[in-house]
Amino acid sequence: MYKYILKPILFRFDPEDIHDLFIIIGKFLGEYSITRFVTRMIYGYRGKDISKTVDGILYKTPFLLSAGFDYNGQLTKILPEISFGGEEIGSVTAKYCEGNPKPRLTRLPRSKSILVNKGLKNDGVEKIIERLKFSSERRDVSRSEEIRFIVGISIAKTNCNDAATTQGAIDDYFYSFRRLNEENIGDYYTINISCPNAFGGEAFITAPLLEQLLSALKKIPCKRPVYVKMPINILWEQFYSLLKIIDAFKLAGVVIGNLNKDYSSLDYRDEAPKDFHGGLSGKPCRNLSTELIRKTKQVYGKRFTIIGVGGVMSPKDAKEKFDAGADLIQLITGMLFNGPGLIKKLSKTHSI
Ligand SMILES: Cc1cc2nc3c(=O)[nH]c(=O)nc-3n(C[C@H](O)[C@H](O)[C@H](O)COP(=O)(O)O)c2cc1C
Repeated sequence: MYKYILKPILFRFDPEDIHDLFIIIGKFLGEYSITRFVTRMIYGYRGKDISKTVDGILYKTPFLLSAGFDYNGQLTKILPEISFGGEEIGSVTAKYCEGNPKPRLTRLPRSKSILVNKGLKNDGVEKIIERLKFSSERRDVSRSEEIRFIVGISIAKTNCNDAATTQGAIDDYFYSFRRLNEENIGDYYTINISCPNAFGGEAFITAPLLEQLLSALKKIPCKRPVYVKMPINILWEQFYSLLKIIDAFKLAGVVIGNLNKDYSSLDYRDEAPKDFHGGLSGKPCRNLSTELIRKTKQVYGKRFTIIGVGGVMSPKDAKEKFDAGADLIQLITGMLFNGPGLIKKLSKTHSI
């Protein structure tokens, strides 16, 4: 129904308006036990046990919503009903951020991609902490008999002038990381160093600067797994130099990876506006991320948890990432193009 009826209608409207509409509908559906039940009946996976423990955390399914969709943490009650084992909220930043000027999202349907120039729009860490405190209290009471829905939190630097200097950016990450740990919010954290569309760019994708950032964050006591979200448009030598730093700081693993900045990866270049900024999601990310997962696994074996993300639109794409070495899979664009039924489909195929 989504692909042939809803999608052609929804794809006529501005992508960000549709995104906002999804959030409103998702919040509504998550609010009541009857709407959650109906959603579960349609989109909930009920087959063989495919739960998985990663870094001591039990996931009901190994499929997670990637950072950037539920950036303000409003969907924690409905996402478990559509077969997600967890989600990554954010990226959250120390301060409220309005994001880049619109248009921030452009659909590229023939290339199976979205051009993202969101610029880290979010409510800011304090407001998100309050929201999650409230929703996790309610969630734990209402779902105590089931495997808990896992909430990871992605942390980035505020998209503003103050955070554009190295020290300003470190202070920004530090603040969010400290507050989340103090308030005990989130099951794991991801340090997003690879947002391609924020002021000041990807400031921490060189080894010395990443070392500086992680040295600062290390001062904050943290009992949860910490991952780093990696860029996918750098050469292996640079990627490897970042992995060595992440290893030296004894972090749990990596999320591979973020959006693709190489516009020549588009199947249909003419689909994109001539003058465009930001990163590409979906299919143009698929092979780049899978190859980086494979290399990381080859070099580091079991040392790192690898969360594979980029262009997962079908069970075959998910299998490719698992085979390459991913422990968990995240996605957004596949769900937008194929509908919320995709996660149940991925779960069913994974169970075979
Ligand atoms: C609308 C949108 C917003 C995003 N915002 C973020 C973000 O705030 N932080 C982040 O780490 N990644 C962000 N991403 C990147 C995704 O988390 C993911 O890495 C990327 O889209 C590739 O996965 P996909 O092909 O399944 O969409 C965003 C992606 C999209 C489509």
